[in-house]
Amino acid sequence: MVQLKLTINGFGREVLVQAHETLLFTLRERLALTGTKPGCEQGACGSCTVLLDGRPVLACLTASVRCGGKDIVTIEGVEQNGELHPVQRQLVAKGAIQCGYCTPGIVMTALAFLRENRRPGENDIRAALAGNVCRCTGYAKIVEAVRAAAEEMAR
Ligand code: FES
Ligand code: FES
Repeated sequence: MVQLKLTINGFGREVLVQAHETLLFTLRERLALTGTKPGCEQGACGSCTVLLDGRPVLACLTASVRCGGKDIVTIEGVEQNGELHPVQRQLVAKGAIQCGYCTPGIVMTALAFLRENRRPGENDIRAALAGNVCRCTGYAKIVEAVRAAAEEMAR
């Protein structure tokens, strides 16, 4: 086992991990952060997306031992003081959540994208979310929600 120090959602955490363990396993099974969802576990669906030093990564393909000393944000760390982030609020407002399984991954991808794209067009949003699979919504409302969040954040 390897001892790791991580910062997760702003809090320092220490955890023992196996050398081959994925960040997805560590978050869910050792730290009880089950908001990060396992889907394909092969890097193809985006449901396990988290932010690692501000950049979106697939937790199912990320070795935990490579995350020592890094800053990780999961869906549990997105709301602030009980307030949803504009991306979360707009996904709800636009009816862009059905079963919700893909939603944490979409939120994390959208957060990173909107930090660098203040006024994205529809095609930019679709390209940014291309790695996040949703089986329910048909994507149109998700795109609409991300665009509305961008507008809200620009005010
Ligand atoms: S579970 Fe990680 S990409 Fe599908
Ligand atoms: S809302 Fe069900 S998979 Fe996206």
